[in-house]
Amino acid sequence: MPLALVFGRTGQLARALAAAPLPEGWRLESVGREEVDLRQPKAIARTIEARRPEVVINAAAYTGVDQAEAEPLEAAAVNAFAPQAMAAAALEVGAAFVQLSTDYVFDGGKHGPWTEDDPIRPLSVYGQTKAAGEASALAANPRTIVVRTSWVYDAQGRNFVTTMLGLAAERDTLEVVDDQVGRPTSARDLAEAVLAVAVRAGVGPKPRYGVYHFTNGGAEVSWKGFAEAIFELASPRLVHRPEIRAVASAARAAPAARPANSVLALGRIIAEFDLTPRDWRTALAETIDEIAAARAGG
Ligand SMILES: NC(=O)c1ccc[n+]([C@@H]2O[C@H](COP(=O)([O-])OP(=O)(O)OC[C@H]3O[C@@H](n4cnc5c(N)ncnc54)[C@H](OP(=O)(O)O)[C@@H]3O)[C@@H](O)[C@H]2O)c1
Repeated sequence: MPLALVFGRTGQLARALAAAPLPEGWRLESVGREEVDLRQPKAIARTIEARRPEVVINAAAYTGVDQAEAEPLEAAAVNAFAPQAMAAAALEVGAAFVQLSTDYVFDGGKHGPWTEDDPIRPLSVYGQTKAAGEASALAANPRTIVVRTSWVYDAQGRNFVTTMLGLAAERDTLEVVDDQVGRPTSARDLAEAVLAVAVRAGVGPKPRYGVYHFTNGGAEVSWKGFAEAIFELASPRLVHRPEIRAVASAARAAPAARPANSVLALGRIIAEFDLTPRDWRTALAETIDEIAAARAGG
């Protein structure tokens, strides 16, 4: 029975992968920090050699974008060297490798969606370490697929959706950036896409290996527009609706710079894997309903 070995247990994507319906005959095993600290490449290799999976999926990462500016070595260990160790160990046991990456590998300066072949120029330590992880994994194992995504959320993680709903309970006005645009991605939808990719990468039919983009579909939106959609869907069940004021990202003085345009082109993954990314508003409505149901129940 083919095995998908997932690094990451507590994160948004890791939890969504563990909860996703598996293709018939497949098993999935998640490896958390308590079993393997990703700063230990030898432990990564030992785990892969012991389990002998058909495909390794890396759903773990150092995702503290601002924090990474102060901890570049730790971010590099997790985001650059760990994927290299995973890809190499996967090759040793004849497994394919799926690595997650980010819109933050781009500088945001393009008009229109970024394609997989556009030149990367990360603006932050996080983006640089994720870019290094892409390159090192692709070089270490020819059966590597990198899936770049953006603006990921679920019903439980610390993400933009749960943060906005939390802040709305405390404040009447919120200032939200309106000069960065992108497309939100439900962790559930991402997990289903990653599994579809992983199964093909692991046992075929052999896909084209390399870089792909996956986000939810629909029109691009700013963080302010995303916040407005969250409150539109959540009010009045979850929160009263705060007034949202636009603010420029320059005014936020965050340690890490973010791309102004994060919109990723989806054509390649749609064509190769026959996926149909849902509109981000449809996926967001589902998650908001889930949050409302959890609060009503508990
Ligand atoms: N979130 C986004 O908006 C976003 C956007 C673009 C791309 N991505 C990419 O998508 C992927 C999934 O992101 P996510 O949102 O699911 O991330 P997340 O919720 O922040 O989860 C990160 C996971 O990595 C684990 N981890 C971090 N350092 C570790 C270490 N040293 N050893 C073992 N485990 C470690 C964490 O474990 P602990 O809980 O133990 O710390 C956690 O399970 C990542 O590759 C990320 O770069 C995310």
